[in-house]
Amino acid sequence: MGFFASVDGHIVPADEARVSVLDNGFTFGDGVYETLRTYAGRPFRLDRHLERLRGSAARLGIALALGDGELRRRLEALLARAANPESYIRLIVTRGVGDISYNFDRVKGPTVVMAVKPFPAYPEHHFRDGVDAIVSSIRRNHPQALDPAIKSCNLLNNILAVREAQARGVGEAILLNQKGDVAEGASTNVFAVRAGALVTPPLDAGILAGITRDVVIEMGRRRGLDVREERLALSALLGADEAFLTSTTRELAPIRSVDGRPIGSGRPGPTTLALLSAFRAEAARAAS
Ligand code: PDD
Repeated sequence: MGFFASVDGHIVPADEARVSVLDNGFTFGDGVYETLRTYAGRPFRLDRHLERLRGSAARLGIALALGDGELRRRLEALLARAANPESYIRLIVTRGVGDISYNFDRVKGPTVVMAVKPFPAYPEHHFRDGVDAIVSSIRRNHPQALDPAIKSCNLLNNILAVREAQARGVGEAILLNQKGDVAEGASTNVFAVRAGALVTPPLDAGILAGITRDVVIEMGRRRGLDVREERLALSALLGADEAFLTSTTRELAPIRSVDGRPIGSGRPGPTTLALLSAFRAEAARAAS
């Protein structure tokens, strides 16, 4: 069991893994990433994560010549080496090694790093009782400045928001977009249940197209819920019957309060809990 990394296909213990200080990922934050997790040892929705990774890289003009087959083989070898019951997986692709300049034609790359470690599961009370959140004073990057659809290694927008949440002792920071509507959490998407409908901000609210978000939308529709990707005003979130966060690592995390104000009853609601168990069943099915 352990924490291992693959650097351009070479597997080593993570604390021995090295990339150059001239790597554009280090000098410019010029790279993209994906976070995945395994269920029953198998990466969940790997195809979708690879597709999103390629989309992020393409938006930055980072050419990833390695095919999905090779990326899958490298990840499988890494998972086999680490032999964790369940793994947290990080895939990182940077533009490569440059000379600390904007001369991208001199960059040799890309650099492809994968890291896996034992999955740090959230404690069960996280799901049973829900999490507290705040509304960050930081607005989500404007899509015309830095498109949140790029899952970029440059996470300063998110880090500033997370630091506010940590300073206030809560589990997530919710970022509004430039219009003042709910965009997403610092590392999660946001859903509200209002009058029987499941509402989540649309992609053009300036958010990441979360893979868990997609699964929840599909599951909700299959279950006959009225699922709407539409503008979510902050007042609508605060007045919701239920709300929850989604991400690869958090699955569906009920939101107990926002800025100290309880959401609904202040307890995880029936729609959230039903979707959480449906999600876990789906993940178990995918792994079997
Ligand atoms: N975060 N929004 C942002 C800004 C994110 O960084 C993430 C993912 C999500 C949820 O996406 P998904 O369901 O595909 O995990 C939404 C991961 C977990 C991370 O940063 O490690």
